[in-house]
Amino acid sequence: MFRKVTLAAAALAISAAFAVGPVWAKPVVIKFSHVVAENTPKGQMANKFKDLVAERLGGKVVVEVYPNSQLFGDNKVLEAMLLGDVQMAAPSLSKFERYTKKVALYDLPFLFEDMAAVDKFQSSKEGQDMLAAMKKKGLVGLGYLHNGLKQLSSSKPLKVPADVAGLKFRIMSSDVLAAQFKAVKATPLKKPFSEVFTLLQTRAIDGQENTWSNIYSKKFFEVQPYITESNHGLLDYMVVTSAEFWMDLSDELRVEVKKALDEAILFGNKVAADKAKTDKQKIIDSKRSQILELTPEERAQWVEVMKPVWKKFEHEIGKELIDAAYNANN
Ligand code: SIN
Repeated sequence: MFRKVTLAAAALAISAAFAVGPVWAKPVVIKFSHVVAENTPKGQMANKFKDLVAERLGGKVVVEVYPNSQLFGDNKVLEAMLLGDVQMAAPSLSKFERYTKKVALYDLPFLFEDMAAVDKFQSSKEGQDMLAAMKKKGLVGLGYLHNGLKQLSSSKPLKVPADVAGLKFRIMSSDVLAAQFKAVKATPLKKPFSEVFTLLQTRAIDGQENTWSNIYSKKFFEVQPYITESNHGLLDYMVVTSAEFWMDLSDELRVEVKKALDEAILFGNKVAADKAKTDKQKIIDSKRSQILELTPEERAQWVEVMKPVWKKFEHEIGKELIDAAYNANN
């Protein structure tokens, strides 16, 4: 009798377990690694993605977010992704140079007048096609995320290109950005984001270029007495994953994960628009750094010296692509 009851209970437990899915099935883990602080567009987007996935796919997929270069820095994350040590990241578009030359388009100085033009180009066929530019290298672009337009921070006031001559500037790992600073006779140094604050603080470098949100959240404004509101370039991101990981997901999970990501990106883009204003204001209020505005004549001088960089990279990026991006300003 006792044996019969025990067997019946065991059978019931097993069928209940199968009804909700095998209890021993491990969730898919998505390690999302990034280099910025949590109070930034990318930080907020990644956390939103984690929450949406937990809400909708709890138990089946788990997103773990690693901010502030905790897991991998700029230059290692894509290698780690191809080795399966991390599943998602959103490096800035300047950091894909080793995998595709096309994405260097986004580094061309004075290409986009504002973020509306960036949005217009990124949602065009040309912009969307670029998400697949690294497929052969095993990386899949899942979407673009905004941060915003870059400003120049420095240890001395910069109003015209001649003011930069001889200064050392940290740049992201992009040959276009190197050419941009060489065009104004400055010395560009490719360094990881995690080292920028110390390099500025110790005066190993004179300046750097970044968005209001990065300048604020990483406290660059505390060690840079001047910020020139130049809006000379773009700092946006591509959310990427490895083709192997992505195609290993079931169709159902891939659709749901992508849906959650798209919603998180929309949220992150709103945060970016907001932070471009509020973080700038916080820097002004801090009185630690003086913000310099350019007159139209001064801005025209920067455009004149930096724009020839476009021609230099035209053969790698493609003239048609550059034209398509530039025409998004209309
Ligand atoms: C980032 O926003 O991900 C970092 C940008 C930089 O390296 O300057």
